[in-house]
Amino acid sequence: MSKMRGRVLIPLPNTGAMGRKRNNFYMRSVFILALCIFGLLQYHNFNYLDSRDALLSDALANDSADAILSMVPAPLHKYLTPHTRNHSAPAAAAVLQLNSSISGLSNSGFAAAATTINFEAYRPPNISEIKRQIVRYNELQLVLNEDTFGPLQNDSVIIVVQVHTRINYLRHLIVSLAQARDISKSLVVFSHDFYDDDINDLVQQIDFCKVLQIFYPYSMQTHPHEYPGVDPNDCPRNIKKEQALISNCNNALYPDLYGHYREAKFTQTKHHWWWKSNRVFNELEVTRFHTGLVLFLEEDHYVAEDFLYLLGMMQQRTKDLCPQCNILSLGTYLKTFNYYTYHSKVESMPWISSKHNMGFAFNRTTWTSIRRCARHFCTYDDYNWDWSLQHVSQQCLQRKLHAMIVKGPRVFHIGECGVHHKNKNCESNQVISKVQHVLRIARNSHQLFPRSLMMTVPSLIKKSKLRKGNGGWGDLRDHELCLNMSLPTR
Ligand SMILES: *[C@@H]1O[C@H](CO)[C@@H](O)[C@H](O)[C@H]1NC(C)=O
Ligand SMILES: *[C@@H]1O[C@H](CO)[C@@H](O)[C@H](O)[C@H]1NC(C)=O
Ligand SMILES: *[C@@H]1O[C@H](CO)[C@@H](O)[C@H](O)[C@H]1NC(C)=O
Ligand SMILES: *[C@@H]1O[C@H](CO)[C@@H](O)[C@H](O)[C@H]1NC(C)=O
Ligand SMILES: *[C@@H]1O[C@H](CO)[C@@H](O)[C@H](O)[C@H]1NC(C)=O
Ligand SMILES: *[C@@H]1O[C@H](CO)[C@@H](O)[C@H](O)[C@H]1NC(C)=O
Ligand SMILES: *[C@@H]1O[C@H](CO)[C@@H](O)[C@H](O)[C@H]1NC(C)=O
Repeated sequence: MSKMRGRVLIPLPNTGAMGRKRNNFYMRSVFILALCIFGLLQYHNFNYLDSRDALLSDALANDSADAILSMVPAPLHKYLTPHTRNHSAPAAAAVLQLNSSISGLSNSGFAAAATTINFEAYRPPNISEIKRQIVRYNELQLVLNEDTFGPLQNDSVIIVVQVHTRINYLRHLIVSLAQARDISKSLVVFSHDFYDDDINDLVQQIDFCKVLQIFYPYSMQTHPHEYPGVDPNDCPRNIKKEQALISNCNNALYPDLYGHYREAKFTQTKHHWWWKSNRVFNELEVTRFHTGLVLFLEEDHYVAEDFLYLLGMMQQRTKDLCPQCNILSLGTYLKTFNYYTYHSKVESMPWISSKHNMGFAFNRTTWTSIRRCARHFCTYDDYNWDWSLQHVSQQCLQRKLHAMIVKGPRVFHIGECGVHHKNKNCESNQVISKVQHVLRIARNSHQLFPRSLMMTVPSLIKKSKLRKGNGGWGDLRDHELCLNMSLPTR
């Protein structure tokens, strides 16, 4: 994981440690000042590690639900408060909202179908009904709030959020987006692989920017007993190949490079990532002439209020700061949080999946070159989309992915409980609360919205070795489905 390097101690605004002006401390102040200058000079030359900040933010954060709510402006509380669902009323409301935003579109079929869902009390979700809704949404491509904020400009930022089921994190992401400067100019595309009324209601409640929902059509939810979900005749993960051949299970011939058979739940995320990227760049009507940046987020990310401002600045300065950069990254994984020494600094290096897979953006030019490498992405035996993308970069792209990266992150990862973190306390709001506090300190000490960007000398770049994939992507059906998603449609 990435390490903090070259940090200089900065006084917190509320300590006043360096602000006292008593005369008898005059000499001491001069001395401290000299030390600071010395430190600043040294900081360009040395890299060192400092764990003080982690302790600091631990002490500050109060992660009770009330405390977290108190950090959110009152008008945004609506995104954090779950509605108790009245199984007759809210769905109808959603339909009305959709209906009222459609102008000039013949929507009678849509509304009529929508009113048939889920009205008599609680029922298990009706899969065929969900499928129909998904088809309809995807055909309709309805952009919400377009009448308020105007049509998408060709050079506006499009933000694509990959959404699974973690609605509580999504609530906080939405709250953070709502507070970002210039959010009203962008289009936020929510790409869902799980159809859920509560999530839909939440997304359709958004009133601060244009919104479009798209639905991944090959989900496990809509294919519970068949590929791409789990087919009863699929080979179990751990069966030996000889046994698999004897039992004649579906994918007996195609274990992954570690000898394991497909696990549907681990393949979905990569499929979804590939599908939505193709969908956004190559299929949606609203993006047909789009030449601007597309920023990739996930449901458990959280943005700083200057993230679009910074992204715009990075885009402007690419030509002179880093002409070879073709991907802009707003997030890094940090163990500590007091990085705002770096608030206006960027660096550049080859794109590395494990470091730069969060909050990155590129435009159609970069996408087109990635898409030409579909075969590399889709047949590489690794179920991680980000490792697959790195593979594409290293093995296929003529112009490899080269990233400009903010040193003070503007996108944070608040989801402690992803696929790989089973043992953590998943109810905990600790990270959210820490991020709130870090941003408050940064805001109060005017470290957001820097006036200019500075390129720093790149920290040591470890040669990223060519490596075998992580497996989980040996099944030919997955290769084929993935490749099918990037067949030309227009
Ligand atoms: C956290 O904040 C809540 C509400 O603001 C307060 O009631 C509680 O005492 C605080 N807890 C700590 C440990 O400071
Ligand atoms: C649910 O909505 C229906 C129709 O709008 C209404 O008649 C009913 O009283 C509501 N139930 C509750 C518990 O709010
Ligand atoms: C739904 O949209 C149609 C056509 O745009 C309109 O005639 C109808 O009044 C709308 N219904 C509601 C309840 O808004
Ligand atoms: C699911 O919805 C469809 C209509 O889309 C209906 O024909 C079917 O009977 C429903 N199935 C169940 C189990 O409710
Ligand atoms: C986007 O670009 C296309 C083609 O260049 C042009 O026809 C269209 O008017 C532009 N749209 C906007 C909103 O500027
Ligand atoms: C897209 O990004 C590339 C760098 O990756 C840049 O050279 C190009 O000018 C950009 N295109 C547009 C239309 O901004
Ligand atoms: C991919 O597309 C081909 C041709 O359209 C089709 O025969 C095949 O079944 C598709 N494969 C998957 C996995 O969807």
